[in-house]
Amino acid sequence: MAEISLLIHDLDAAVTPVGTGSLRGREFGGLRLHSPASIAVSEDRITAVGPPDEILRDIPSGTAFESIDGRGKSALPGLIDCHTHPAFLGDRAAEFELRSSEATYEEIHASGGGIRSTVAATRAGSEQELRSAVERHLRWMLEHGTTTAEAKSGYGLDRETELKSLRAIQDAGRLSPVDVHPTFLGAHTVPPEFDSAAEYVEFVIHDVLPDAAPFARFADVFLERGSFEVPEARRYLEACREYGLALRLHADQFSERGAIPLAVELGARSVDHLEATGGEGVRLLAKSELAAVLLPACGLFLDLPLPPARLLADEGAIVALATDFNPGSSFCESLPLVMNLVCTRLGLSPAEALCACTANAAHVLGAEDLGRLAPGYKADVLLLDAPDWRYIAYHLGGDRFAARIKSGRIQ
Ligand code: NIG
Ligand code: FE
Repeated sequence: MAEISLLIHDLDAAVTPVGTGSLRGREFGGLRLHSPASIAVSEDRITAVGPPDEILRDIPSGTAFESIDGRGKSALPGLIDCHTHPAFLGDRAAEFELRSSEATYEEIHASGGGIRSTVAATRAGSEQELRSAVERHLRWMLEHGTTTAEAKSGYGLDRETELKSLRAIQDAGRLSPVDVHPTFLGAHTVPPEFDSAAEYVEFVIHDVLPDAAPFARFADVFLERGSFEVPEARRYLEACREYGLALRLHADQFSERGAIPLAVELGARSVDHLEATGGEGVRLLAKSELAAVLLPACGLFLDLPLPPARLLADEGAIVALATDFNPGSSFCESLPLVMNLVCTRLGLSPAEALCACTANAAHVLGAEDLGRLAPGYKADVLLLDAPDWRYIAYHLGGDRFAARIKSGRIQ
């Protein structure tokens, strides 16, 4: 065995998704349980997971390494939040209060509030303030066990603030232990200075995208009434694809309007939300290589329908889970809460919930060396302060971690 830098020994259990890559159909929810277990780490990689006596025997004698006593604890892969919006300033607390009595999310959006109010606050702040905000949000995520996060721009919607957001995401990602995968969400909604979605999309393509693309891995669009329809989304996504960005769509959140067929046509990586997706959309997804990224904290937060998770899983779609962390529709950075929600409300098992925010979320991000506890994978490990790994979903709002290990380092 290679020289090791960290040994997590005598765990009650270590649990990991089976196989490699994404898991769908019968494989979805497949876990391998090592019990008892030790995990050996060399620098930022896992080198071995298995019975404690075997792991100990294979360690060359005389080597010095850090060790963690795993007795009474269980280990699982660091969680991957594959859909978040952390680059914003201000808040929507007043809107939250309004929603509790008088107006719906869509009504607030239609009257010029919602996303546009966060855009105004984000435009008004400095790049440093924005970077600090992203850093703070990443810290919150790590507290809840997220070791890798996707992060979208989309609260600038002008050249200066979109670029500022992407730089803030990149810089915060370098400063935070959390690995960050940036997404250009230039087509989040139409800002007030434009009269039409088509006109705004042309502006984005010509004036923002060329300089934004080098900072991003993905492009995203909000395809929904009041934001962008299929023709503008297609134009924007095709242009983004030319720049080498992988494509993602906010799809079927409130209404079905052709997002899934468009995503299939363009070879997108994922469609996200899907609260309004019907049987035909589910079947199309199940036949495709598109991932279905479910964001049920959003339905909880807005008191709106939740996505058809069970049907998607049963039909064989690639199901991933994420928080959708943002100030308006899901002010929630906790993947364990989302896991609890899919188990209690949507009929997924804890094992399926775990696969959905580890192996399958890694697949969405194209980061195939994340999301498993197995040799060669990135040493992103959560130690739960419980002998049973299911506490990650079972303990509502609990998140009792004995340690969070990112790239082989204790955080
Ligand atoms: O994923 N749907 C569009 N975007 C975000 C909400 C953004 C906001 O309300 O600020 C979402 O729900
Ligand atoms: Fe979102």
